[in-house]
Amino acid sequence: MKRFTDLADFPRAEVQQLVALAQRLETQPEPQALAGKVLGLLFMNPSLRTLASFQAGMARLGGSSLVITPGQGTWQFETRDGAVMTGAAAEHIREGLPVLSSYCDALGIRAFAAGEDLEDDLADKRFKAMAALVDRPLINLESAINHPCQALADWKTLDELPGSGRRKFVLSWVSHPKALPLAVPAATVHMAAMRGMDVVVLRPEGFALPPAIMDKARRAAADSGGSVAETADRAEALAGAHVLYAKEWGSTRHYGDELADQAQRGSLKDWCLRDDWFAGAAPDCRVMHCLPVRRNSAIADEVLDGPRSIVLRQAYNRMPAQMAVLYRLLKPGA
Ligand code: CP
Repeated sequence: MKRFTDLADFPRAEVQQLVALAQRLETQPEPQALAGKVLGLLFMNPSLRTLASFQAGMARLGGSSLVITPGQGTWQFETRDGAVMTGAAAEHIREGLPVLSSYCDALGIRAFAAGEDLEDDLADKRFKAMAALVDRPLINLESAINHPCQALADWKTLDELPGSGRRKFVLSWVSHPKALPLAVPAATVHMAAMRGMDVVVLRPEGFALPPAIMDKARRAAADSGGSVAETADRAEALAGAHVLYAKEWGSTRHYGDELADQAQRGSLKDWCLRDDWFAGAAPDCRVMHCLPVRRNSAIADEVLDGPRSIVLRQAYNRMPAQMAVLYRLLKPGA
């Protein structure tokens, strides 16, 4: 494996092998597997789980890591081609990234969507421009349109749930005070479809996932025997659901228009996940969220603190899942 930037780059069997490796490293630790290896982590945007779980995972495999957060102790990065650099940024990624790569055996990059132009973000232009400057094994730590590490950990979390046969997976939009990127919803709907689940995207009008995201998920479902549908009808979506994955994202009707987005989400405060959403769901329906989550805005305390929530296990699984990715990228012959 040379790069881990999209779950769609791998056949389903290879993803299952990665999850099996994550489980093995959990039960049979290999504290010297990556001794002497260095992982660089470049965060253009904030993080708790991704940063801490990669550093912890690398240490548990015997390697070390360094973290760069431009503008916070290191030079602020300019990312635009052709920029006249008279502003705050003292270093261009054209120098910064190759320099950073040269110190490391693998590099992870987090670069969120600019949130201005939907087509640019769907094409993942910012991340791809940065990835092109890296000549080392590369990991996507969340880009405009993908979060493969979250998706791999979520795959493992779903494997741990009881039950077999066809499972209904609902990805539901939930309320948030401002527009958030499409990376997690895009990665999640694809991951669940790739698993062969019956996937329903539940979202209010104006928040439909773009055709490029839905079509990618539908292609994965066609290969796996799953299905992908969407609706704005909560009762229809939740009927018989085994998993409800809650996530916030920005209006796709008003992408990049903050005021119009705000006006649209202003009337959607009842999209805070509460116990009464589960009236028609399977009795053991579980709740997932990638975190961070705003309590009582996106998900009510009663759900997060109740027996349906598996969000902490989901967050824990980031570490073994990423250890499996690091092992595949950096251990010769693995
Ligand atoms: N889910 C996730 O990626 O969390 P962080 O943004 O804290 O890394």
